[in-house]
Amino acid sequence: MSVELKRGLEGVLVAESELSHVDGEVGKLVYRGYDIEELARGASYEEVLYLLWHGALPTREELDAFAADLAAERDVDDDVLDTIQTLADAGECPMAALRTAVSMLSAYEPEVDADPEDFDATRRKGRRLTAKIPTVLAAFERARQGEEPVDPDPDLSHAGNFLYMLTGTEPDAVSEETFDMALTIHADHGLNASTFTALVIGSTMADIYSSVIGGIGALSGPLHGGANQDVMEVLYEVDESNKDPVEWVKAARDAGRRIPGFGHRVYKVKDPRAKILEEKLRDLSESSGDTKWLDYTTAIEGYLTEQGLVENGIAPNVDFYSGSVYDSMGIPMDMYTPIFAMSRVGGWIAHVVEYQEDNRLIRPRARYTGPKDASFVPIDER
Ligand code: CMC
Repeated sequence: MSVELKRGLEGVLVAESELSHVDGEVGKLVYRGYDIEELARGASYEEVLYLLWHGALPTREELDAFAADLAAERDVDDDVLDTIQTLADAGECPMAALRTAVSMLSAYEPEVDADPEDFDATRRKGRRLTAKIPTVLAAFERARQGEEPVDPDPDLSHAGNFLYMLTGTEPDAVSEETFDMALTIHADHGLNASTFTALVIGSTMADIYSSVIGGIGALSGPLHGGANQDVMEVLYEVDESNKDPVEWVKAARDAGRRIPGFGHRVYKVKDPRAKILEEKLRDLSESSGDTKWLDYTTAIEGYLTEQGLVENGIAPNVDFYSGSVYDSMGIPMDMYTPIFAMSRVGGWIAHVVEYQEDNRLIRPRARYTGPKDASFVPIDER
């Protein structure tokens, strides 16, 4: 049987999903049919989670009950907080600390022994994880700063509570709304690398914690979620060296470097999430009067557009603008990818449950190019 090799699984369909669709030709993203621009403007992260997990937008009553159930699960055990402190003291990076902490959370999971085919139990576990990840991340950031963790406040939204736990102060309305929008637009994105990783693990009927840990690992890489931090590092590098951003991007191109925040496997035009974040950055810059990051990103995008990259399908993706938005909220750079995970965990869980409900083990093959008839030589004779 001859099988076509698809490097990087490009264009391969491995599952059906009702969750989200990326139209890379026109730059459109929908969650269950709803346009991301409308959701970004009109729906909270909790509403989007409900949509992804329950199949329809909630009524006000449904949302209130759902948000209260989620908020009730935010506390993490003191032992987990102690481990977070140990990881912070050891200088662990936040994505690795998150991965370790999620693994430890499973030891405190009340339904750890639930039947893998009890999908309601998987959903409840997923809800606990989604609720606790912000607590873990905020505690880690504070531990690094020598600060005690701040207890979650169940009266605050998912976004507002995270910012509160991070800083110890209730966020203003603009920060909360901006952060909530960032969570909303990162929640799901078809079978991206981390979601596919979660799905592969889920397809063995392993527990949801393993899927989420795998998702965190995949998201951490610079070709995926790690790109948002890389973009911000570039912007700081440009700023600190007093370089013109166009000079920087020219030199990077001449050196054959990839520009972080540009290019995408599916989008051939500008990512709609990048457009939403660009607009947000513009608003934030105008209201603060500090347009530096906006100026730099605009200059880099303008140069690459002139050079024909964008026309050739290497256009800004979501990571090109998210870092500057977080930076203008005072969030440290290495927390950007963990924040991506804090949102995308909702999509990972939705995809794993959807897949497991009609499961088939995911098991592709590689074309073997090694020798076929090597003769074995015992170790002492080699
Ligand atoms: N800068 C310069 N050239 C690029 C870039 C870039 N950022 N991205 C792709 N290319 C070129 C690449 O060099 C190749 O050219 P050639 O055919 O001449 O060798 C061509 O475009 C195709 O690249 P590819 O690696 O085959 O494309 P892919 O679909 O495998 O990669 C990608 C997609 C996202 C890994 C890639 O565009 C990239 O490395 N981008 C930079 C990292 C980044 O921003 N990642 C975030 C992705 S979106 C958010 C997320 O999922 O986390």
